[in-house]
Amino acid sequence: MSRLDPNLNFPAWRSAQQAAIEAALERFVPLDAPARLGEAMRYAVLDGGKRLRPLLVLASCEAVTGHREAAMRAACAVELIHAYSLVHDDMPCMDNDVLRRGKPTVHVAFGEAQALLAGDALQALAFELLVPGDGSIAPALSADLCRRLALAAGADGMAGGQAVDLASVGLALDQPALEGMHRRKTGALLQASVMMGAATGAPAATTLAALADYGASIGLAFQVVDDILDVTADSATLGKTAGKDAAADKPTFVSLMGLDAAQAYADAVLAKAHEALDRSGISQSATLHALADWVGRRAS
Ligand code: IPE
Ligand code: IPE
Ligand code: MG
Ligand code: MG
Ligand code: MG
Repeated sequence: MSRLDPNLNFPAWRSAQQAAIEAALERFVPLDAPARLGEAMRYAVLDGGKRLRPLLVLASCEAVTGHREAAMRAACAVELIHAYSLVHDDMPCMDNDVLRRGKPTVHVAFGEAQALLAGDALQALAFELLVPGDGSIAPALSADLCRRLALAAGADGMAGGQAVDLASVGLALDQPALEGMHRRKTGALLQASVMMGAATGAPAATTLAALADYGASIGLAFQVVDDILDVTADSATLGKTAGKDAAADKPTFVSLMGLDAAQAYADAVLAKAHEALDRSGISQSATLHALADWVGRRAS
């Protein structure tokens, strides 16, 4: 299938999937945790965010005709890890941000200890979702999804990337070092989203390898664009405080190469994502192509 599929109405697909994801998250994130912990968890997760990672899981599942129910659980699990990472990323000990998804950050609304615990509990809940007690995901698939998510969230993935980010304040990283940081702190979870969706089906090894390349490319490009938007967009559009990276003296693709070169770099990386899909052997890849375009051209 070509990149331009006249039968695909991407905005309509996206809205429908976002609504389904919202309903599933609403169902999965409990209010009844003690001492307002449930309230803080729901505040962190519901009513906000683009839901890019869940959309990647579902699109990848569709591309390989995978198991929709398992994919929806995986989609929510990835989003919970992402939401937890944002709660902790915003805390005073990390980026010290007061605005997220157009609302006061969790530590501002609920206090630091509650924000820390909400993040902890969201991380645990993510893995719980992947191991349903009703047997609706086969044990081998559960284990595979847990392993992929753990690797992407952990020391050589998101958490490791965040450690590099904090250790790099005031430093001028070169391009390979910056790429390494971005691949870990943001790329790993995006790539895992693609691979978890694929794991719910039974794609050929060559398809899996191409999807891994696609996921790596959009993962890297996504954080480069995040760096650009921090400079070019305003806080109201972003729903988070603009201009934070320069203020905090963080090395970014914009500080390394300037705005225009950073956008050209993101476009070149996204071109690799499209090429990977072209050799994936997937017959219905238009949604994945459209998601790559969305990563590159998003306003927030
Ligand atoms: C923001 O992620 C944090 C990064 C990893 C760059 P998103 O831009 O996906 O945030 P939401 O989920 O839409 O709020
Ligand atoms: C955050 O990167 C990445 C993770 C939360 C893992 P940033 O610090 O750039 O994200 P924003 O800009 O605050 O959303
Ligand atoms: Mg940060
Ligand atoms: Mg931040
Ligand atoms: Mg940022």
